[in-house]
Amino acid sequence: MARFSIHAKKNMKKVNKLNFKKTLSKFTTGVTVVCVKNNDVILGKTVNSFNSLSLNPPMVLFSLGNYSSSINKYMFSKYLTINILSKKQKKISDNFALKRPNLKNIDFFDGKYKTVLIKGCIANLECKLINKIKKGDHVVFICEVLNISKNDNLKPLMYFNSRYK
Ligand SMILES: Cc1cc2nc3c(=O)[nH]c(=O)nc-3n(C[C@H](O)[C@H](O)[C@H](O)COP(=O)(O)O)c2cc1C
Repeated sequence: MARFSIHAKKNMKKVNKLNFKKTLSKFTTGVTVVCVKNNDVILGKTVNSFNSLSLNPPMVLFSLGNYSSSINKYMFSKYLTINILSKKQKKISDNFALKRPNLKNIDFFDGKYKTVLIKGCIANLECKLINKIKKGDHVVFICEVLNISKNDNLKPLMYFNSRYK
């Protein structure tokens, strides 16, 4: 027979903006930088809402706040790259979380679809943006993965409780 604890029931609180954010921060993620290139202008954004979606065909997803200053640049890109950061790339993560990231010290390499990828990552994905879904205050980006690379010798940068791990 199932046993219910009164204590557990009492612990459940009605969700609000603050406790929602704090509770989701208990989910450990990796950290990526999503890059787009439009007319030779490179944009990058630190993103941890990245996840795998489908194996066949290979698809991934991530979401961006619809309040972001660059949301339209991402929405209207055909191709983009997702760069999964290594533990050594904390500074790159901080940089691309800025409103105006500094691109001068970032080592990029070219993808096959006029994209740019970040060197020294634990993995890089070159993707085609195939769908965008507006939900709540975010836009979900669904991408087909076209080209990939990985480095087995690096450790991942992780994010937990609003801090790097
Ligand atoms: C570890 C980390 C993960 C983040 N993940 C996301 C994300 O998944 N989606 C998002 O829209 N912003 C995310 N951000 C915030 C953006 O990187 C960036 O700070 C914000 O978009 C900057 O505002 P702007 O887009 O108006 O320039 C994250 C920031 C950090 C530090």
